[in-house]
Parts: sequence; structure tokens; C-alpha cells
Amino acid sequence: MAKSELQRIERLRDLLRTYQYEYYILDSPSVSDAEFDVLFRELQALETEHPEYLSDDSPTMRVGGFIAERFEKTQHPMPMLSLGNAFGSEDLWAWRERVKRLLSEEQQAELAYVIEPKFDGLTVVLHYADGRFSLGATRGDGEVGENISANLRTVNSIPLRIPHAQKANPDANLEGSEAPSRLIVRGEAYVDKADFETFNQKQADQEGRTYANPRNFAAGSLRQLDSSISAGRPLKTWVYQILILEGATTEPTSHWESLAYLKSLGMPVCDEIAQFTDEDFEQMVEYIEDLGAKRDKLPYEIDGIVVKVDSLAMQDELGFTGKDPRWAVAYKFAGEEAITKLLEIVINVGRTGAVTPNAVLEPVQVSGVTVQNATLHNEDYIKELDIRIGDQVVVTRAGEVIPKVVRPVTELRDGSEIVWEMPPACPNCSQPLNRPEGEVATYCINNACPARLVRLVEYFVSRGAMDIEGFGFKQAELFVEEGFIKDLADIYYLPWDEILALEGYKEKRVENLRLGVEASKEQPPSRLLTGLGIRFVGSTVAETIMDHYVSVGDLMEATVEELAELEAIGPKIAQSVVEFFALAPNRELLEKFGAAGVRLKGDPKPAPSEHSLQPFAEKTFVITGTLPSMSRSDAKAFIEAHGGKVTGSVSAKTDYLLAGEKAGSKLTKAEGLGVAVVSEDELNGLVESALSADLES
Ligand code: IVH
Repeated sequence: MAKSELQRIERLRDLLRTYQYEYYILDSPSVSDAEFDVLFRELQALETEHPEYLSDDSPTMRVGGFIAERFEKTQHPMPMLSLGNAFGSEDLWAWRERVKRLLSEEQQAELAYVIEPKFDGLTVVLHYADGRFSLGATRGDGEVGENISANLRTVNSIPLRIPHAQKANPDANLEGSEAPSRLIVRGEAYVDKADFETFNQKQADQEGRTYANPRNFAAGSLRQLDSSISAGRPLKTWVYQILILEGATTEPTSHWESLAYLKSLGMPVCDEIAQFTDEDFEQMVEYIEDLGAKRDKLPYEIDGIVVKVDSLAMQDELGFTGKDPRWAVAYKFAGEEAITKLLEIVINVGRTGAVTPNAVLEPVQVSGVTVQNATLHNEDYIKELDIRIGDQVVVTRAGEVIPKVVRPVTELRDGSEIVWEMPPACPNCSQPLNRPEGEVATYCINNACPARLVRLVEYFVSRGAMDIEGFGFKQAELFVEEGFIKDLADIYYLPWDEILALEGYKEKRVENLRLGVEASKEQPPSRLLTGLGIRFVGSTVAETIMDHYVSVGDLMEATVEELAELEAIGPKIAQSVVEFFALAPNRELLEKFGAAGVRLKGDPKPAPSEHSLQPFAEKTFVITGTLPSMSRSDAKAFIEAHGGKVTGSVSAKTDYLLAGEKAGSKLTKAEGLGVAVVSEDELNGLVESALSADLES
């Protein structure tokens, strides 16, 4: 008997999946809600009767019920990068120029773009193993996210199985794709504007918690420890990027094809997408501006339009700068504006000593958020716009986190407004402020300025740097004020018994803080380097530098020329690092870290084994055309693994051109210059003969 019940269970699941697909993805249900409910309840009853048949990907799992104590961490298969911004069409044209400069003529001739909305939600990473949803994670710090699978399972537009619905239903409109063995996609979780309003209204009526905007609502709903709460929230998703695809029946070669493929699997892919050739760039820019004008009509919030180079091979070649891909850019819309009164201008000292004038405002709503502080950038900004204390000012969030004052409404002046001047001395340490010639920024020149030190300590202990749990702005401020911290290394010499005597610092809390500080000593030195707050040295640059130098001691002796040779390190960064370590107090600071037991040396790189020969050492390669078995990035990795270098264009300095089918102008150029041209087979041959020569000798 049980067998036929299992069959019924499976039949019901198939049907319900199909109905959910029709309802949530196609937006065209073929059965009534009542019919759906009857089948759903039948399935629930059967599953209760036969718990042995329960399955993670059953449609009944969407109601949630799993209660987590906390979210487990999960490593992403690759860093979750962000996007560079373009404000206005000029920035778009400039981006296009940069892209084209890095591509060959043949590539330029085939250049195309895809545009899609920039959804104002939260990144989610969805994993499928053999067609089943196996893991869903938040973005986290980009490297490691949180496992929120139980909550994402309740999001109806996320298929628990791919293809989402069964071929059995001819109306399902699936192309009959087979499930790939492994698929990881990136997408955005969000809440529709109308659903957000309804929820907030209901909460307000019941005096419950309301949210500032749909994005915050989506964030709060995703991070519920009780998944049945998430299940009750109107969360949705769009997917827009394949991160990993293995064992698929088709391999997309462009972004456009990737989206079509995801759609064929029943994934939620947004329809507001368009493809343009490079020739039609002007039309594309117009199209984007039109979309911006009608964005209020979309059911969900978007804060811009993303433009992506379509070809995946070109994306690969264009690569990244820091954390942003060169192959994509986010065109940001001008943000909503509001008018309010400027009550006061205060100045804040940052960790570099730069002082920023900030506006204290009468609280006002901008794009769903209450704003009462906004940046005024610098002295010149205030002078040029003639912003006065007491003015009515226009405030915007312009897609950025920090709101800004855009201009004063001079028509509303009554004569009582006061012209502001930069004070001559730092309000925190009373030392003179200085504005270097030719710079817009004003600095507190006192290295020991407590306000500056507080900001530096806050940065040092933050998640992107030494990541000390329980340590934040409040602790930084308190410990500097108490005189416990006079320089960064003092964090490792804190007088714990004196801290125990401070209000609010009970034994348990102090012990946890002490353990956090202790644990951070083991952080890789790239994090220490980040935390020092050297100009232009953020976490990505610090990692690149420490990958090369391994020990901070070695880095301290580096020259500008050496540093500038590293990939993605320009002369400006190199200069800044060398200047930092040239100062005696900074060198002493590092000694003090070392004496406290902070790690100054990374893990040594594995020594090259006898057989990791470098047959391509000092050889420069260029790759062109389609290779028979390797992708270009595979070929690049192969060459680099054997000691060679790969560059983008053929010159007299090129040693080999690795050419595949449809090689174009690069081949002609190489032949003209007498550069050796090799095929993929010959490339392998070069390595093999080098290896066997080594064995014989
Ligand atoms: S692509 C490597 N496409 O915007 C490129 N991102 O500032 C990865 N976002 O954190 C991003 N809509 O969460 C891409 N159509 C879209 C997007 C999108 C929204 C978000 C994403 C990311 C942020 C980047």
C-alpha cells in the first residue's frame, strides 16, 4: 500500500510545484486558490502520516517551522563583488571607452551589452545540487555569508527543484532543460512596494514594528531565526548571475544566454532586460534614461540600471579592479529630495585627520528614511553653494548611504541665516586645523588627536580589519577617553582590571572582550595592514601586498618601484605605503604589535617542489581565438602555473601567441613581428618536453 501512497505524494508534489511555478513565476495560475489548497492539504496529511517520505524540496516545506539558534557561516564559491557607479550618461560613455580600450579590435566588433534593473534588495546566493535546492546564503562580508536556507525555502519564487515544474505540464512553458549537476546563482531578495505598504499598515494598526522601506523590510524578514516568520513575509527574488555551472546540457556563452538558461530552469528572471550592440550605445543610454523616468511604475524598487558586457569570455578578460568588475557598471538614478532646516554645522574628525563639516538637520523623511545628519563634504562645498546656518536646504540620498545637502533654497531666506566659517582649531584637541595648499580637505594635524584616534581604533577593530567582536565605536571612545589607548597597539595592552571597574563592564563582558582581542592576534597580517589605515590601502590592496611580501618586516623595507610592480598596485598606493613605513613612530608601532604577540608574518608559500618546473619562466604569452579544449581563462591559468605571463596585446616583447580558431588581427600582427605562434597542442608539447628534459638531466 505504502508504495502507491508514495506515488500519490510524488504526484501531488509535482502538481503543486507546477502550480506554484505558474503562480509565482509565470504570473498566470491555471487552478484556483481553493483547488491548490485542497491538494496542498492532502499532501500535508500524507506527509504527516508518512514522515519517512518527508523531503526538503516538498512544496509543504515552504511554510517554514525550523527554528535556528543562530545562522551558520558559509564560504561563498567566489567573492561576492560589488559594482562601480555611473552618475549620468557621461559616466556611461566613459565606462564604454575604458572597456573598449581593453579589448581587441575583433572583440570590439562583437561587443554587446545587456541592461537590467539594479534591484534594491539584498544579495542572496542559491545553491542547487543535482537539481535540488541545497543551500541559500546572505552576502555577508562578500567572502563568507550566513546560511539562511530554511528562510529562503519559504520564498515561493525560489524553486526547490530545477527545472521548477515538471515537463508533464505542457503549459509550464519550460524548454525541458535537464537539471545541471551543480548550479550556484546570485540574485536579489526583495519585497514589492505594495506588499510592504500593506504589511506596515497592518503592523501600525496593531501597534507592531514597522519598517522604514521595502529593503529594510526584506532584510528583517530574511534574517528571522524562526523560518515560519519568514514564510509569512511577502519575500520575492530575482536571479541575475550564474556563479558556478557544472554538468549542464548547454553552456551559456553570454550573459543574455545565461538569463535565458536560468529562465528555462524555471528560475525567477526579470523581464525588464534588453540587449544592445555597441553600435547602438546611444539608443541604450536613451533607453536607460527612459527606464529611469518610469521606475515608479515598477512594482518593486530599483535604485539604478546595471549595464553588463554580454560576452562571458570578454567579461573574463576584462576582469576586476579592486572589488568592482570592469565589465559592468551601475547607472544610479538621482535620489529623492526633501527640504528641511539646517540647524547647525558641526565638524567631525575622521581616522586620517581629515575634518568633514556635517549638517545637523530638522528630521525629515527622504526615500523612506528619517534623515537628521547629512554631509557637507568640505569648506569649499559650503562656500560655493553659499549654504548658511538656518537655511532651508535640499537633502538627498542619491543612492548612497550617507545623505547629503544639495543646495540652499535661497528664496526662503529671512535674513536671520548665519554664514559659516571653518573654525581655526580642532574642536576635540584644540590644536590648529590645517588646509594644505591645493587640497580641498582640512586636517587636524595632531597625530594624537583623540577624536582621530577613536575613529582609527574603530576602523582597526572593525569587521574588514582585525574583526574584534564586542569592540566598536563605543569601546574605542571610552578607552581613548580613559587614556588606555594612546596608539593602535595599546589595544593589546589594555588594563583589564581597570576596565572591570568601569560602569557596564561586568566580568563576563570584559572576559569576552579580552578573548576577542587575544584571538585577533592570530589574524593574517593582511588584516593588520588594513587596520593601520594607510591611505589607499583597503582590504583588497592589503591582501595583494601581503600575498607577495608575506611578512610585515619585509614589506617595511619595500621600495616604491617594487610595490608598483604588483598587480593592481599603482604608484600612488606604493608611495603611500612606503611613506607610512618611513616614519619612525610607525615602525615603532609595528614593533609594539609584534611584542604583544600580534602576527606579523603570514603562512609561508609552499616551496616549489622538484617537479613544479617553470618552463615558461620569463615568457610572455598572448591568447587569441577559440581553443579546442581550454577556455581562455583555463589557458591563462595553465600558462601562469608554469611560470609564464599573459598579456592582452601582441608586441615585439611577446614570446608566444597561443592561437585557436578564428584568430584575427592578433595573429596577423604576431606573424608580422615574427612572434612564435603555437596551438593548444603545441603549448602542451612545450611543457612536456621541458619536463622530460629535466628528468633526463
Ligand atoms: S551584478 C560582480 N546585477 O547591487 C557583479 N547586481 O552594488 C555583481 N544588484 O550587491 C553584481 N541588481 O546585490 C548585479 N541586476 C543586478 C543587480 C545587482 C541589484 C546588487 C547586488 C550587489 C549590488 C552591487
